[in-house]
Amino acid sequence: MMGLGYVGCVSAAGLAELGHSVYGVDRDTSKIAAVEKAKSPFFEAGLESMIAKNIRAGRLQAGTLTAERLDAADIVMLCIGTPSQANGNIDLSHLHRACSDIAALLGSRSKPLVVAIRSTVFPGSCEALLETYFAGHLEVSIVSNPEFLREGTAVKDFMEPSLLVVGGSTDAAARTVADLYADLPGAVSVVSLRTAELIKYACNAFHAMKIGFANEIGSLASSLGVDPAQVMATLCLDKRLNISTAYLKPGFAFGGSCLPKDLRALNYRASRLDLKLPLLDSVLASNDEHLRRGIRQVIDLRGSRIGIYGLAFKEGTDDLRESPIIALIEYLIGKGREVRVYDPHIQLEDIYGSNLNFVVSALPHISKLLVKNIDTLVTSSDALVIAQKADATASARLAASGLPTLDLTRMEARSLTA
Ligand SMILES: NC(=O)c1ccc[n+]([C@@H]2O[C@H](COP(=O)([O-])OP(=O)(O)OC[C@H]3O[C@@H](n4cnc5c(N)ncnc54)[C@H](O)[C@@H]3O)[C@@H](O)[C@H]2O)c1
Repeated sequence: MMGLGYVGCVSAAGLAELGHSVYGVDRDTSKIAAVEKAKSPFFEAGLESMIAKNIRAGRLQAGTLTAERLDAADIVMLCIGTPSQANGNIDLSHLHRACSDIAALLGSRSKPLVVAIRSTVFPGSCEALLETYFAGHLEVSIVSNPEFLREGTAVKDFMEPSLLVVGGSTDAAARTVADLYADLPGAVSVVSLRTAELIKYACNAFHAMKIGFANEIGSLASSLGVDPAQVMATLCLDKRLNISTAYLKPGFAFGGSCLPKDLRALNYRASRLDLKLPLLDSVLASNDEHLRRGIRQVIDLRGSRIGIYGLAFKEGTDDLRESPIIALIEYLIGKGREVRVYDPHIQLEDIYGSNLNFVVSALPHISKLLVKNIDTLVTSSDALVIAQKADATASARLAASGLPTLDLTRMEARSLTA
């Protein structure tokens, strides 16, 4: 274990507790000295007793990294600090130095060595470390195994992890690290190397955004004389749409008759209260930018005749109000594309009121664009855009077309073939 800071010490003691033989090293000799004396180098509830127990059992030791020590190891785990640079980028210099130290001690090793990066690093960093320091060492593979513990509850978080993630430069290396945690509750998610690196950033961004959201809603509630705690506690009671996986899949921009309208009203009312809510204020701007990204991807499709599956803002409805697909079609027509649209729930003759007004004011010739079935959509198009989730039958028929297809609901371009 390289690095005996908050993450390294807890990981070293925790892995020893799970029965593994762990040798801890650190550039800071005071941390080594503390562990050697069965002490924790810093306060963390339950850590010192776990260190002492495992030192006594002979499963945990600390000292300096030598060629012999490295030779005896199957895995070197790096829990090195990755602080911020002045420009916000992460500083990987300590990790580089640690990898350089390992490479210098490898000698003519032939048995496999897994270098497991537990530090938080941006996607691509592990591949770069492997290439820079271990290019000539085919026995070395690299793994990203991010840590999700929280200081203050770190020991409990290690033994009862909220998430276990491993991604490796080889499947065997990822499996070797995943197996370390076999006795912990919860399955290990074995993912790609870059996913493992990114997931840590995604989790921390999500946590920060949740706190920002709760604080902005709480501030709005206070300004209105409403109890902030009651609002958020009630919000959290909804485990289907709020505290759930709902709305957490990357896809196309949102729209419809409620989300844009209600966000606009909330932001307007907050501004009248002289309340700045930058997070909530940025949500519609974020959505507009996402719509523009989608439009740019559609413009990049080859062919002038674009067939679009879906017109309403989501599947299973004929509500066209504020559908981002209508904005997409307006743009495509403006750019001279010939557009055809099929939506299984849209029969123009059945639509009326504000719903009809919205689509007709944006697309006066909508009746000429709508086709009655998927076969017509396919035969009148050079490329397809799936802008709304399609059921299995519709997906199979779109795929059978063999046309270049952009699936905006999954944020991916692909050429579907039968
Ligand atoms: N602290 C947390 O709550 C937490 C939680 C999850 C992930 N992380 C991430 O884990 C990583 C480590 O964080 P931390 O809080 O444990 O950092 P830390 O600063 O407490 O510990 C890092 C240790 O690495 C040692 N070190 C630096 N260069 C070394 C080298 N070449 N050889 C040996 N030891 C070396 C330092 O002396 C230090 O003891 C960071 O990337 C951090 O973002 C931290």
